[in-house]
Amino acid sequence: MTVDVSQYIDADRGLIRGEIFTSQEIYERELELVFGRSWLFLAHDSMIPKPGDFIQNYMGEDPVLVVRQRDGSVRAFMSQCRHRGMRICRADRGNAKSFMCSFHGWTYDTAGNLIHVPHEEEAYDPEVFDKKDWGPIQVPRLANYKGFIFGNWDTTAPSFEEYLGEMAWYFDAYIDRYEGGVEAIARHKWVIPCNWKFNAEQPASDMYHAEVSHASAVQVLKRPGADNGAERYAKGRGHQFSSPYGHGAGWFDTTSSSSRNPVIAAWENETQPQVAERLGEVRAAAVRGHANIFPTFMFLNNGTMRVTHPRGPHEMEIWAWTFVPVVAPPEVKEQYRIEVLRTFSPGGMFEQDDAENWLEEQRILRGYMARRNPLLYTMQLGRARRDVDGFPGVTVPHCYADEGARGMYRHYADLMSGLSWPEIVELKKSREAQAADR
Ligand code: FES
Ligand code: FE2
Repeated sequence: MTVDVSQYIDADRGLIRGEIFTSQEIYERELELVFGRSWLFLAHDSMIPKPGDFIQNYMGEDPVLVVRQRDGSVRAFMSQCRHRGMRICRADRGNAKSFMCSFHGWTYDTAGNLIHVPHEEEAYDPEVFDKKDWGPIQVPRLANYKGFIFGNWDTTAPSFEEYLGEMAWYFDAYIDRYEGGVEAIARHKWVIPCNWKFNAEQPASDMYHAEVSHASAVQVLKRPGADNGAERYAKGRGHQFSSPYGHGAGWFDTTSSSSRNPVIAAWENETQPQVAERLGEVRAAAVRGHANIFPTFMFLNNGTMRVTHPRGPHEMEIWAWTFVPVVAPPEVKEQYRIEVLRTFSPGGMFEQDDAENWLEEQRILRGYMARRNPLLYTMQLGRARRDVDGFPGVTVPHCYADEGARGMYRHYADLMSGLSWPEIVELKKSREAQAADR
């Protein structure tokens, strides 16, 4: 089966047709070509500190168990029994010595070896059945970046470091601001009836919606004595970053904490000098706004990080964590938790504004006419520059831009074209060489 998405995506001209958000055929290809070969967030070290600790996550629609081993390493394997395909583990997280499938009782150890099969001697001929061949499918590639564990099914994909590229510099502004990094302290899950890409493109690119979509929320959440964001929104002074591998980030140029919470703002401002020493002035002050590591690992400057799991073309499941600096005092951590609850949890004020937009877009795209004509992604087209203003990689000097989204859909189209990973890497190199010549 082949679907030619190039007819729907013209990233260079910023034109994208709604078909990519609604087609079942395209969705099936995404599971294989995007989620089957991209680096996907699986867990953070702080979620599974002890041997036997596990969390159950998803890679696309595939459930995977991510388990801390006795030697401190991590393994990830399908939560799918090789016997009849039942889910191996019914818990979201916990600590286990082994995993027993609740259908017929096949049992796996925490490394994913099949260790017990009920009535094995009577039922199975040892000539044709060997337990060692029937462990769950292992995720062949794992990477740990500063405590963040990512997995990839594709052994030909570039290394995680290469894939992350210049995005690492921006990612570090969120996760490596303080000695000891960050830890996860809370999680919410919920379902929204819209395509996963509507969420992903937003932190990759869309600061433009905030002034209008979040107008009431920013007034209500205004911190006493601070600007409520309206002035920042009016000026739009900021930057946007776009990566050849589809990652994106955007931020307002600020010099102090933009938190709406007085306790967090005070602590962030107080610690700003030490962050500046660690990350440099430019990165410490600005950079933090919103970002997406392609395809679906997103984070915002208030401590929320999320993954959107695809659930068919018309639905996504959000798993959102609150991450806090390990060194923050307990009362500040508690305020981060409350702040995320208030803004980007299922009942969060910003979250509801965003979800309303996405699900209406999705509903409208059921229409025949709605899908025929392109949507416009041309803000700041042609203004991309490389390595300017102290920002590595390709940026545009305004936060109202579609550069991040164009980059995301360009990479998405590369993957969906069916080219192999080595071919895609070559293609990106030749594009960069062409851009350098201009
Ligand atoms: Fe798991 Fe049968 S499906 S033991
Ligand atoms: Fe938003």
